Amino acid sequence: MSRNGVEQVLDTVARYFVGQRKTLEKVLAGALANGHILFEDYPGLGKTLLVKVFSRALGLDARRIQFTPDMLPADIMGSKIWNPTTRTFDLFKGPIFTSVVLADEINRAPPKTQSALLEAMEERQVTIEGETIRIPAPFFVLATQNPIEQEGTYPLPEAQMDRFLMRLATGYPTDAAAEKEILRRRIAWQAEDPTQTVPAVCDAKTFRAWQHTVERDVFVHESLLDYMTSLVRRLREHPKVEVGPSPRGALALLRVSRALAFVRGRAYVIPDDVAEVVVDVLAHRTIIEVDQALEGVTGEQVVIEVLRSITPPARQVVVAR
Ligand SMILES: Nc1ncnc2c1ncn2[C@@H]1O[C@H](COP(=O)(O)OP(=O)(O)OP(=O)(O)O)[C@@H](O)[C@H]1O
Ligand SMILES: [Mg+2]
Repeated sequence: MSRNGVEQVLDTVARYFVGQRKTLEKVLAGALANGHILFEDYPGLGKTLLVKVFSRALGLDARRIQFTPDMLPADIMGSKIWNPTTRTFDLFKGPIFTSVVLADEINRAPPKTQSALLEAMEERQVTIEGETIRIPAPFFVLATQNPIEQEGTYPLPEAQMDRFLMRLATGYPTDAAAEKEILRRRIAWQAEDPTQTVPAVCDAKTFRAWQHTVERDVFVHESLLDYMTSLVRRLREHPKVEVGPSPRGALALLRVSRALAFVRGRAYVIPDDVAEVVVDVLAHRTIIEVDQALEGVTGEQVVIEVLRSITPPARQVVVAR
């Protein structure tokens, strides 16, 4: 039952976004883990399209925030506004009070606004002039940024990247057929932006039920906990790494792996679920030594090196309860 529902969400997104099934599975896993996802890639690679289609297919309340350099924290969080009739301050809730926040071009917001957003993401609550308001689950931010240095952008501080459960790239079309398929679809849509026509194939209640299943029913064998622990620790101890992933990073690996197992129709995690998301979950939390970074060493490279250096547990072992 949930199997079909999950497939339906992925199939619906795939009717719009041309890309790898694996990417879609990861996005859904991140959402089910109630995690925030940062899509980082070059312009025109479908980041905005992907996040819009996803939020509509999931049937969750979504609001889009297009970030600009003149944006203030209050534009996102909300504020208190004087009401002359009742002679009281009324609370105006900003666009962050929704289930899915589409935070487009997050690196265009000034640092103060970014850090207010990142804090709200982590705390899952907002304080407006002394009043603290919780943001109920499901709540996750799908943010986009493009990595090219541009005038008037403020790259997210490395230390704050940790607030994102995963960093994903949409990537260039893998071959000529995929490239051509994008053109074909454009003709079929008869419009630049087809996202208004995306059907909601899930709803908040179903989505919450899936989230509960992930929390309650997806088994993780002890040997996989060892695997995750070694990955994180080996990365932290790596000579090229200045600051390695925190325990939050290890927990992120656990959350995403379990959700991905569920998305793939299993009630237990296998080593591949972990290995396939290690880069997405840990690379942006790995800060490389300055000298090494200047030489061109990236977090992604080191994560891949560490991943290759550790033997995963055997698949037969991890099924047993
Ligand atoms: N993988 C894809 N599948 C379908 N359409 C795509 C894909 N990649 C790009 N497009 C199309 O290309 C156009 C640009 O995509 P989009 O606006 O989502 O890019 P973006 O990554 O958000 O770019 P920017 O960084 O400039 O905001 C859209 O019309 C979109 O439909
Ligand atoms: Mg965009």
